[in-house]
Amino acid sequence: METVVSGIRSTGNLHLGNYYGAVQNFVKMQHEYNCYFFIADLHSLTTHPTPANLHGNVKQVLVEYLAAGIDPEKATIYVQSDVPEVTELYLYLNMNAYTGELERSTSFKDKVRANPDNVNAGLLTYPVLMAADIIIHKATKVPVGKDQEQHLEMARTFGNRFNRLYNNDYFPEPYAFSMGKNLVKIPGLDGKGKMGKSEGEGNAIFLSDTPEAIRKKVMRAVTDGGPTTENQEKPQEIQNLFDLMKVVSTPDTYVHFDGLYNSMGIRYGDLKKQLAEDMIVATQPIREKITDIANDAAYLRQVAIYGAAKARESAQKTIREVREIIGFRKF
Ligand code: TYM
Repeated sequence: METVVSGIRSTGNLHLGNYYGAVQNFVKMQHEYNCYFFIADLHSLTTHPTPANLHGNVKQVLVEYLAAGIDPEKATIYVQSDVPEVTELYLYLNMNAYTGELERSTSFKDKVRANPDNVNAGLLTYPVLMAADIIIHKATKVPVGKDQEQHLEMARTFGNRFNRLYNNDYFPEPYAFSMGKNLVKIPGLDGKGKMGKSEGEGNAIFLSDTPEAIRKKVMRAVTDGGPTTENQEKPQEIQNLFDLMKVVSTPDTYVHFDGLYNSMGIRYGDLKKQLAEDMIVATQPIREKITDIANDAAYLRQVAIYGAAKARESAQKTIREVREIIGFRKF
């Protein structure tokens, strides 16, 4: 059976981008593949969270994984820092990752632009840690959103380079994957690019948002003055709302509002009201479970311990073999 690995950074509550880009695929894939889903708490250290924030955020992602329907009996759910073998592999891969190629990564350049005062080495080698996460379980499929495609290419590069250096084919090639045909990019509500936690207040709808919060955010989403000719191309901020509608609403609803736009009869207030209600319906089953699971400390502990043991078993096997390949020998 093919192995699947994916993770989400522990930076707080999951939003619709995380859900439709990744978690929804996790839930589907757990029935068909050997799955490892983790909480990337080591990756989140690049932004220096306080100890209390770090733990709270790890817990939140764990709770939301479970609330979304990942079954710890089917998939292995674990916290990245509970599997120290990952950091060992990261160190080995770092020896064959070149600073030039790391500096050219789009997400590194974006981060440097956004936070010029915190360009740490962890940020530079972020894709190497990500490659270690994936190839430690020899995964071939990685369910992620469109924004992670380049990181997957780098994971293949580092795995292949290890293979070439030691003249073997130990690591298979991992590819970004979606159960739908294409990798998705969920837009945010600010009229610009993707939905993301760091893209500013109000841009993201969280799975844990109350219906009132969802309505408020959607009603504030950026729109324009309305179409001025029939069948005109939608500007970015309007296209974004339609793209969101495509994800959470029925095809009929989408066609209805698209028709109104094309005939210049659209009222954005109506579109937003519908979009907000459909988002509320889409997130309701998850939202309802979040509080219950969050209050069950014993269950969360049990899931984390069980998952860490399973993930370590797989990771330890890889590390044993990698050490042998590299040439670390016992005296
Ligand atoms: P992160 O935590 O930024 O995002 C987690 C997952 O959510 C997807 N995603 C989106 N998909 C579609 N539209 C959006 N607006 C959107 N926003 C986020 C991301 O594509 C991702 O799949 N580096 C990773 C975490 C990670 C990882 C890994 C993933 C660490 N190691 C190994 C896969 C395999 C990250 O920061 O994702």
